[in-house]
Amino acid sequence: MHCDLLIKNAQIAENQPTVDIVCTDGKITAIGNALNATAEQTVEANGYWVSPPFVDCHFHLDATLSAGNPRRNKSGTLLEGIQLWGELKRQQTAAEIVTRAMRLCRWSIAKGVLAIRSHVDVSDPSLTTVEALLQVREQMRPYMDIQLVAFPQDGYFRDAGAHARLLRALDMGVDIVGGIPHFERTMQEGNESVVALCRLAAERGLRVDMHCDETDDPQSRHIETLASETIRHGLAGRVSGSHLTSLHSMDNYYATKLLTLIAEANVAAIPNPLINITLQGRQDTYPKRRGLTRIKEMWANGINVAFGHDCVQDPWYSLGTHDMLEVAHMAIHAGLLTAPEEMRHAYEAVTNDAATVFGLENYGIKEGDNADFIILQAKNPIEAICNRATRLFVIRRGHILAQTAPLETQIQLMGKTEKVDFSGTW
Ligand code: FE2
Repeated sequence: MHCDLLIKNAQIAENQPTVDIVCTDGKITAIGNALNATAEQTVEANGYWVSPPFVDCHFHLDATLSAGNPRRNKSGTLLEGIQLWGELKRQQTAAEIVTRAMRLCRWSIAKGVLAIRSHVDVSDPSLTTVEALLQVREQMRPYMDIQLVAFPQDGYFRDAGAHARLLRALDMGVDIVGGIPHFERTMQEGNESVVALCRLAAERGLRVDMHCDETDDPQSRHIETLASETIRHGLAGRVSGSHLTSLHSMDNYYATKLLTLIAEANVAAIPNPLINITLQGRQDTYPKRRGLTRIKEMWANGINVAFGHDCVQDPWYSLGTHDMLEVAHMAIHAGLLTAPEEMRHAYEAVTNDAATVFGLENYGIKEGDNADFIILQAKNPIEAICNRATRLFVIRRGHILAQTAPLETQIQLMGKTEKVDFSGTW
């Protein structure tokens, strides 16, 4: 058989023989051992791990790569970040946002991230941010999937024009209804914002993804309302709570009840480990809380968890290269997810489980799925996380989008030059 792309000797299941993957017209058409196929292009995977691309379910493309403009976040808090962004967003043009976001997308592709759910701030009266990110979504469409969430950064009730602008953003083509209940003036207004926004999503047949309870305050329980409104409107499987950091600080008895409700509502959780570990706990003396939601307990309750990167070099987080292996690595540390099964689950939270939250179709490595792959310089997911493995190839619909030379380090030792083997114990 003749095909467009043939990937040879791919490791797609741990401790199983490698396979060849045949791709035609952007789809996987056959998978098997030593297939007798000829191809326009052949990629030798050399027994390395081949998986579907990384999916980032929580990002801010409008603010990315703006750190330092107008100045750096000194306190490291969420609130100083919101203040700095508030100053920048009044001055920046759509062209500037597009330039920064497109630069980030190049990093994403290089790191194997081919799906990004980005919140877009709808609190600026001119909706420059929306105009810019709609352009980015369109320009990048052949290369990656971008979903946009209408995000009322300054509050849905707290900011008088937010309702009208959120509707306008959705009319312009933004995909998902966002919210920020913990930032409303009162707990009650926070809850009412969740009720109003879920009703809006149900009326329009849209998904919901709210920044929810991004605080150390154990009394912040908006996720409870989000879950119950999800049940009321029959939105199961289409709603996500991003961050949910207050769950870290809640009383264990209440947390147990709440996790059962989240599971019943089939609401997904999107923790953002790099950001949660650095923004939360800022008002603590010692001990300082980790500020990460209860990932282990969520998994135990059957709640789907996707990890997000959230920020790269913006007013809230001054580091990052959009590497989802770094995100999984931090989740394992901050969430104490060090059992082998938990580390494998962490890899799922940036691939398959995240694709479910995103709603991606034909995602995976079986016949009929999209011919989208990353080939990592590692034998399995745990080694990939351990080494933050080099992304040797990033492939979309059967076309190579990015290629990076394997990491190879030579050392001089005892009069000899040798290559360092980083393959370790996994
Ligand atoms: Fe966020």
